[in-house]
Amino acid sequence: MARRVAWSSRLSHHQKEIGVRTYKIGYFIGSRSSASINRILSKALIRLAPHDLEFTEIPIGNLPLYSPDFDGDYPPEPRALKDAITASNAILFVTPEYNRSIPGPLKSAIDWASRPYGQNSFDHMPAAVIGASPGQIGTALAQQSLRAVLGYCNSRQMTAPEAYITFHPDVFTADGDVSDESTATFLTDYMRDFRVHIERVLTVIPRP
Ligand SMILES: Cc1cc2nc3c(=O)[nH]c(=O)nc-3n(C[C@H](O)[C@H](O)[C@H](O)COP(=O)(O)O)c2cc1C
Repeated sequence: MARRVAWSSRLSHHQKEIGVRTYKIGYFIGSRSSASINRILSKALIRLAPHDLEFTEIPIGNLPLYSPDFDGDYPPEPRALKDAITASNAILFVTPEYNRSIPGPLKSAIDWASRPYGQNSFDHMPAAVIGASPGQIGTALAQQSLRAVLGYCNSRQMTAPEAYITFHPDVFTADGDVSDESTATFLTDYMRDFRVHIERVLTVIPRP
């Protein structure tokens, strides 16, 4: 799932001279489906992203449901989740819409990451939200729900552009190749804007 890009081989001489850095992006897939169209979308986004973004999936499939009973001593899976977020410079959410809202497993993962009280992993974290569905509004309502949650978690969200993807199987191959030029351009621009957003946020609020 991860695309690792070596600093020295992919950055231009000019970029190295001015100190442009690589950003580590932790990404969530909001679906547990083995045939997830959002996983396909994530592959397309990784393919089309600027080369100085490194992607690592933050898996949610093995997480128990959140309970405050564990706030004093997190189980290994939620602990690993929080560590993975802390190791990231920014977070990308690629999610389906379930019943006009956030899929339950993703919401529970966010709840784990936001706790214990005072140890919210999303505090000041640059983030972006995107999602695909076969329907015409392309996860718009799930994304609005997710944005409200991330706002409460004090994440620094990219508010524009928004990206509501109506998934057409003839446009995306299973490994994330995008055959439609306008879709590819839109997704490329979205990821370029995300990189700009990350740099802006981290310039003002460097991560520890
Ligand atoms: C429980 C459930 C609820 C769904 N609710 C919505 C919905 O509110 N809006 C929508 O556009 N699609 C909805 N769908 C259809 C999903 O968009 C579709 O199954 C999609 O493939 C899910 O993304 P995934 O393939 O990445 O899992 C729902 C699907 C399920 C299983």
